[in-house]
Amino acid sequence: MKSIKPLSIQPIPYQGSKRLLAPRICQLIPDGVETLYEPFAGSAAITIYAATYGQAERFVIGDSFGVLIDLWEMIIERPTELSKRYSEVWHAQLDNPRHFNEVRAAYNDKADPIQLLYLVARCVKNAVRFSKHGHFTQSADKRRTGMKPDKLTRTVHAVSRLLKGRVKLYKGDFDACIRDARPSDFIYMDPPYQGTSYGPDQRYAAQLECETLIEALHRLGKRSVPYILSYDGRTGYKTYGDPLPNSVKAHLLEISAGRSSQATLNGSAAETVESLYVSHGLELFDMDVPQHPQQEHLFA
Ligand SMILES: C[S@@+](CC[C@H](N)C(=O)[O-])C[C@H]1O[C@@H](n2cnc3c(N)ncnc32)[C@H](O)[C@@H]1O
Repeated sequence: MKSIKPLSIQPIPYQGSKRLLAPRICQLIPDGVETLYEPFAGSAAITIYAATYGQAERFVIGDSFGVLIDLWEMIIERPTELSKRYSEVWHAQLDNPRHFNEVRAAYNDKADPIQLLYLVARCVKNAVRFSKHGHFTQSADKRRTGMKPDKLTRTVHAVSRLLKGRVKLYKGDFDACIRDARPSDFIYMDPPYQGTSYGPDQRYAAQLECETLIEALHRLGKRSVPYILSYDGRTGYKTYGDPLPNSVKAHLLEISAGRSSQATLNGSAAETVESLYVSHGLELFDMDVPQHPQQEHLFA
């Protein structure tokens, strides 16, 4: 079994990030991957971890939230400019108690990626929320000032060194992003949760229909493109999302993810279990993995 290596760095401090789970998810990625696709990238935790440990030659970071991809472009191509502007926005909060709200209003007007980064870093528990019109709605966290500029500077320069020259950014729908993926590539998908993302105060700028996802998985199966899909899960006894049909040829694995950040936010102690669908054909260590849909507790 591949060893679990330490956590990697994180330039976008986002609550829904898979950074803590990345060491275990990336254990399942086979050796010799040419291009690793992360079409629901958000903070791209799997890309950064896999790049840190040399798990793929090239990377594709995609997201339908265009401003986020603009931010990724700055992180990778213009880290010095990004750091300077972030520092200006961050320092301006120190003598202006209304600063966060002013930045939020400006962001909702002009969609500046650096203002988005500041809002993510400074908002309540880094838990972003959007209105149905796509406006950022989360409030400032009164107890924290957000990632300090010197840490941000170090992190974005490190990520830029890691990915520059071997990453493609994609602004748009996941299905188009992964259109060219081949059997020698690998796709990690972390779509918005069915059970938790809907309603007036959304966690993501975009949502996804389950049927659309299932059709895309069928196409990947036909093309023999290996993938891992993070798919809802459960907290305590509460299960999010319906299981995928058998026609999706993938093993269902469960990872114990500790206390969910959402449960922590709500003051509950419920344990979160993360479901992963792993495409057939992937070697799951030396374990005798039963056929779908039986569940396998790979990680204690
Ligand atoms: C659960 S988050 C991904 C979090 C990510 N794994 C991380 O580590 O930060 C889901 C992301 O998918 C994006 N998204 C939603 N619908 C999409 C679609 N149809 N195509 C591409 N991206 C989409 C959202 O903007 C959001 O950034």
